[in-house]
Amino acid sequence: MLSRGVMTQSLTIPRPDDWHLHLRDGDMLRAVLPETARDFGRAIVMPNISPPVRTGADAAAYRDRILAALPEGMTFEPLMTLYLTEETDPSDVAAAFETGIATAVKLYPAGATTNSAYGVKDFTKIYPVLEKCAEIGMPLCVHGEVVDNDVDVFDREAVFIDRVLDPIRQEIPDLKCVLEHMTTRDAVDYVNSSDDGLLAGTITTHHLIINRNDILAKGLRAHNYCLPVAKREEHRLALRAAAISGHPRIFLGTDSAPHTDANKFQPCGCAGIFTATVTMPLMAQIFEAEGALDKLENFASRFGPAFYGKSVHETTMTLEKQDVPVAFPKSIEAAEGPVTVFDPGYPIFWKVV
Ligand code: DOR
Ligand code: ZN
Repeated sequence: MLSRGVMTQSLTIPRPDDWHLHLRDGDMLRAVLPETARDFGRAIVMPNISPPVRTGADAAAYRDRILAALPEGMTFEPLMTLYLTEETDPSDVAAAFETGIATAVKLYPAGATTNSAYGVKDFTKIYPVLEKCAEIGMPLCVHGEVVDNDVDVFDREAVFIDRVLDPIRQEIPDLKCVLEHMTTRDAVDYVNSSDDGLLAGTITTHHLIINRNDILAKGLRAHNYCLPVAKREEHRLALRAAAISGHPRIFLGTDSAPHTDANKFQPCGCAGIFTATVTMPLMAQIFEAEGALDKLENFASRFGPAFYGKSVHETTMTLEKQDVPVAFPKSIEAAEGPVTVFDPGYPIFWKVV
């Protein structure tokens, strides 16, 4: 519901969900979980903790740790994912799905990103488990990048679609797939061109805002570095268009990924941008700037549950535009040190009320 009073503009939508999130473990989990649970009802929780969440038993234990870390009075449902390895047991995956412990499986190509060393090198090795997923209706979430050294880092997503994702979809046509954190026009086009209803794509907060200049021009800005890395401006514009397009299988997955500042500012710094704190205010601001505030409800609150077979929240969130910039924390304090909150490079005028 959109309303424009004399002074304020506000938007009320069903409570949103985050369809791609890193919560980590231990002290870091306790520090970052409230930032998500304050605004989001559910999240697809990534399994790339150390050691990774590889089995149904791992997922059940991790889910218990997440729920134990949730502050009194907050409600939040973690939707667990299982990290695929070349040894993943299809019957364990099926049991975890059928008992509600796990919602999806996650494919990390080995070496593609944070804690992906246990990931997959030979994709044909996971075909049996993907066949099982297709049979039971369990979605495959994909980190869509090849890691071959001869492929330029800015081309890795487009090449992955051709060499890995499309062959998987051809081989196992009933498999539901989510091409996560899309960063290119190629990814958007691929999702748009699919007509079997089984392929979705998620878009992060930061990829709607930054392009590769924001990482590499005017000094190296580690806080804008993530994987897949932000691409050229034309790709950012394609993502903006996709987000407001009303395509029912394109929805929000923040990929909010906390690393301490110390770990970001290394000679080999970590990939990941922590956006949980500011995502919904930024979404309102972006959709308003696009003249598409009425499209945010579907992107953040309805299309994700529809794809994952979940109900839309009955509770709501209200966002309100302020006359002056809203102050957000510059960083979140974790026991290991500060985690910088994503800075879009402009003032934010919206807040959750
Ligand atoms: O930037 C990223 N950070 N991309 C990923 O795929 C993983 C994530 C993380 O876990 O830090
Ligand atoms: Zn991620």
